[in-house]
Amino acid sequence: MNQDDLKRMAAEAAMEYIDGGIIGVGTGSTVNHFIDLLADVKGRIDGTVSSSEASSERLKAHGIPVLDLNATGELEVYVDGADESNRHLHLIKGGGGALTREKIVAGASRKFVCIADESKLVDVLGTFPLPIEVIPMARSHVARQLVKLGGTPVWREGFVTDNGNIILDVHNLRIMEPTELEQQINNIAGVVTTGIFALRPADVLILGSEDGVKTIK
Ligand code: 5RP
Repeated sequence: MNQDDLKRMAAEAAMEYIDGGIIGVGTGSTVNHFIDLLADVKGRIDGTVSSSEASSERLKAHGIPVLDLNATGELEVYVDGADESNRHLHLIKGGGGALTREKIVAGASRKFVCIADESKLVDVLGTFPLPIEVIPMARSHVARQLVKLGGTPVWREGFVTDNGNIILDVHNLRIMEPTELEQQINNIAGVVTTGIFALRPADVLILGSEDGVKTIK
């Protein structure tokens, strides 16, 4: 099985958490499998709230309604991928640059179901460069503060987020205290969102593996 098969396996297993209502939908290649599967049950849900323009487009192409979070209230379940997860279900997200809207929808959902292939499970977060969404005028200022925290920020040149901001990918971090670092980075003026999802971790991690689906709660 290749990595994409494992992603699809995790997406299939997430369908067990879909029981009507309005579904929060994340972003990325694993979630794309989930969106395609959601199309088969679209008559049984009331719609979706999407975390990116890319996911909205895919949902709409399947004829699945995309709703405004301001009109829906709290969501029952949010399904999204991750770039890394530790065993506490603290995540690094934002490889696709959608981290801010992902964090909003995760925060507005009662249950966060994270789907990934098994390569995403790590002992310590930080091998995957940590994405940070930043207001454009604050790019150099934020980069200097991230260096003080021990990281090596690299501007994702040519990339603009759905919110009109830029991304700094921070290399060389070994994140031993994810909640503390999330708060520290959040406090830098000019940071919109850090890709650490620890203050609001996933509730369930579904991993596609060569030995079948593994679930960590
Ligand atoms: C996008 C994300 C994605 O969930 C993350 O990058 C994982 O992507 P994929 O499912 O393609 O491996 O955080 O901002």
